[in-house]
Amino acid sequence: MQSNIEAVNVKRILVLNGPNLNLLGTREPEIYGRTTLGDIEEILRGRAHEAGVDVIDFLQSNFEGELVEAIQKSRGRYDFILLNAGALTHYSIALRDAISSVPVPVIEIHLSNIHRREEFRRTSVIAPVVLGQICGFGVDSYIAALDIAIRKIQKDIK
Ligand code: DQA
Repeated sequence: MQSNIEAVNVKRILVLNGPNLNLLGTREPEIYGRTTLGDIEEILRGRAHEAGVDVIDFLQSNFEGELVEAIQKSRGRYDFILLNAGALTHYSIALRDAISSVPVPVIEIHLSNIHRREEFRRTSVIAPVVLGQICGFGVDSYIAALDIAIRKIQKDIK
């Protein structure tokens, strides 16, 4: 059994990306920029390493069920989830239910500012069950979410 001291010190973060985010770099670069998902992963890994994060895992999937399963399995394995759910943000009750079924806190991320785009993007069905949402800052949305997760784990506040 882990002691409390170990449990507080160990930092494990899961970064989940939803549909079409594998196309970052070439997908509508005027909206999403030219940074690829691989670049984002490299930036976050570097920053996580510097901050002493023990585990940072990445999963991108175009399939809702795969993301639901990843969230279900996160219980006990991760301290935080950073989630860019892509278009699923706007309609996936299954994803929302998965988030509220596990005690792992989630930070919702978007590269673009979903509130100043089309009407249908202004609704996030996951927003009421996440810790908070960061959107509109491109790659910096991911970096800010990671920094917040690290700070919260360090202070042991969720
Ligand atoms: C997105 C915004 C969503 O509306 C869109 O469907 C995406 C990307 C973003 O990062 O800005 O796939 O989540």
